[in-house]
Amino acid sequence: MTLIQKIRDRMALAADQLGFPVAEVAASVRPCGDPAHGHYQANAAMALGKKLGKPPRDVATQLAASVPQDGFLQAPEVAGPGFLNLRLTDDAIAFHLEKMAKSPDLALEQPEKKRRLVIDFSSPNVAKPMHVGHLRSTILGDALARLFRTLGHEVVTLNHLGDWGAQFGILLYGYKNLLDQAAFKTDPVKELARLYVEVRKHFAVDEEEEGEAGDPVRDACRQETAKLHQGDVENLRLWREFMPFCLEDINRAYRRLGVTFDHIRGESFYQPFLAEVAAELEQAKIAEPSQGALVVLFGENEAPALIRKRDGAFTYATTDLAAVRHRTDNFQPTDIVYVVDSRQAQHFKQVFEIARRWGIQGPRLHHVAFGSVLGSDGKPIKTRDGKASTTLEGLLDEAVRLAGTMHAPPEGGEGEKPITPEEAAQVAEAVGIGAVKYADLSQNRTTDYKFNWDKMLAMDGNTATYMQYAYARCRSILRKAGHPDGVPEAKIILGAPEEKFLGVVLLRYAEALESAAEDFRPNVLTAYLWDLAKAYSVFFQNCPVLRAPDEVTQHSRLAMCALTARVLKSVLEILGIRVLERM
Ligand code: ARG
Repeated sequence: MTLIQKIRDRMALAADQLGFPVAEVAASVRPCGDPAHGHYQANAAMALGKKLGKPPRDVATQLAASVPQDGFLQAPEVAGPGFLNLRLTDDAIAFHLEKMAKSPDLALEQPEKKRRLVIDFSSPNVAKPMHVGHLRSTILGDALARLFRTLGHEVVTLNHLGDWGAQFGILLYGYKNLLDQAAFKTDPVKELARLYVEVRKHFAVDEEEEGEAGDPVRDACRQETAKLHQGDVENLRLWREFMPFCLEDINRAYRRLGVTFDHIRGESFYQPFLAEVAAELEQAKIAEPSQGALVVLFGENEAPALIRKRDGAFTYATTDLAAVRHRTDNFQPTDIVYVVDSRQAQHFKQVFEIARRWGIQGPRLHHVAFGSVLGSDGKPIKTRDGKASTTLEGLLDEAVRLAGTMHAPPEGGEGEKPITPEEAAQVAEAVGIGAVKYADLSQNRTTDYKFNWDKMLAMDGNTATYMQYAYARCRSILRKAGHPDGVPEAKIILGAPEEKFLGVVLLRYAEALESAAEDFRPNVLTAYLWDLAKAYSVFFQNCPVLRAPDEVTQHSRLAMCALTARVLKSVLEILGIRVLERM
C-alpha cells in the first residue's frame, strides 16, 4: 500500500467514527511541499465545516483527536483556518526506509489487479524524415511503457507505422522519374529522403493529399499510391524494396533514444482485414452508404467517419478499426493506449465509438493526447524543408554537441581517476539526450511547449542534468565513504527534520509512480524527482555525511544517500534517461 493510502485509511477511520463523509475526508489528503507544514496535509475541514454548520477549526480538532494513534502518524496539528498537518512518526519513517533499503525493488508491491496494456506509440509515417513532432509520442509512450512495467503490469508495445500512405506514391513517382542511380546504390536511405523532398518541390501546393486535381505531379503520385493499394506487381516490389531502408532510418533514431517495441505493425499489416471490417460494419447497420462511399454517422453536428471512399479506398479510420479488433483478439488487453497528438482527438473519439457499437467491449480505449512542440518563434516546428536542424537526428546531434560544451566534465574528483575522452563522450550523449527527453516529459502533456536549449540543459532547476548530477553526487559520496553500495542493513536514525523530510519523500516513491500512471502523466514523475532532489540537497547541507558525528549516524546517512541514488535512478530509468556514475 502506498504511503498516501495508509494515511487516507487512517483519516477515513477518523471520519467514520465521527459520522463525517469518509471518502471526502480521505481524498483531501495531499503530500506537503514544505516540511514546516507537515509531511502531508488534509484540508477537508473547510468544506465540511460549511456543510455541517460548524467552525472548520472545530471540525479539524475533532478529526485530529480521532486519528488512530497506532504508531504511524503523530497526533495531527490543527493550523490556520482548519488545516490538518500530518506527520509520520520517526519510527514509522525509519521502519519503512529500512524495508525499502533492503528490498531489491524499493519495496514496490505487486498490483492488486494486474492489467495488460497495449501501448501504440511513436507510429511515424515512414519514408519521410522523422521530426520533432514524433519525438513526443516516442518519448511519452516509452516512458509510459516503462512505468506500467515497473508497477508490475504487463505491457505490449506496438509501433503503428504509417507504411502504406501517400508518401509511398511520392517515392514511387520519384524513383521512376528522378532517381540518381549511383546515389541510390551507395546510400539508398539518403537518396529516398532526397527524392521525397525533390518530388514535393514539383507540387503546386505543398500538401500531401489535398490540393486540387489538375496538379500533374501530385496526380501522378496519387496514381502510384492507388496502384500500390490495388496490388500492382511492380509497385509492390518497389515498396518491399524501400521498406527496409525506411526502417533503417527510423531504427537509428530509436537506438539512439534507447526505445524498443515488442511489435512493429504498420498500417500495411491490417490491409487484408479492411474489406471485411467494412462489410461487417455495413451489415450491422453501423455504417451506411452515402453518395457511393461508406460512412458512419454520429449526430447532426459531427462530421461522419469515412470507412470506404467513393473510389473504393479504405481510410485511416478503417485501419484503426481493424487494428482494435486484431489487438483485442490477439492480446486480450485490459487497456489499449494511443499516444498520439491532440489534433487526432476527433479521429480517436470516432474510432472508439464505432468500436463500441461494433461490440468491442473487453479493453478500455484511451487516447493519451499531447500538444505540439513549438520553435522559439512560438510556431509548431515544421520539417517540410528537410533542414537538418528540424529533423530528429539533427536535433539530437545538436543536444549532444551542446551538452558536450556546456557540461565538459572536470579533470575527475579528488582521489579519483581522471575522466577519459570516451567517458566524456558518454556523458555528453547521456546529458544531451536526457535533456531533450526530460524537457518533454516534465511538461503537462496536453499543453504545447517551446523548445529551449538553455533551459533544458541548465544545471539547476527541474532538468535532467540537475537530476543526473544529484545522482552522480550521491554515488561519489558513497565511493568516498568506502561504501559504494550504501549500507543496506544500517539502522536508520532520524535526528534533524531535514533527515525526516528526505525520508518521507523517499517513501513517496510508490505513490508517485501510481499517481503518474493514473492519468498517463509522466510529469508527475518529474515533479517528484524535483521534490526529491530539493529534499536531498537540504538534507545534504544540514546533515554531514562524511563528517558525521559517529559511525552509527554515518551509516544511517549513507543508507539515505544510497536510497536517494536508487530512487533517482529508478525514476530516471522509467523516463528513459540514463544515469552516470560520475560526470
Ligand atoms: N502515423 C500516424 C501519424 O503520424 C499516427 C498513428 C497513430 N496510431 C494509430 N493507431 N492511429 O499521424
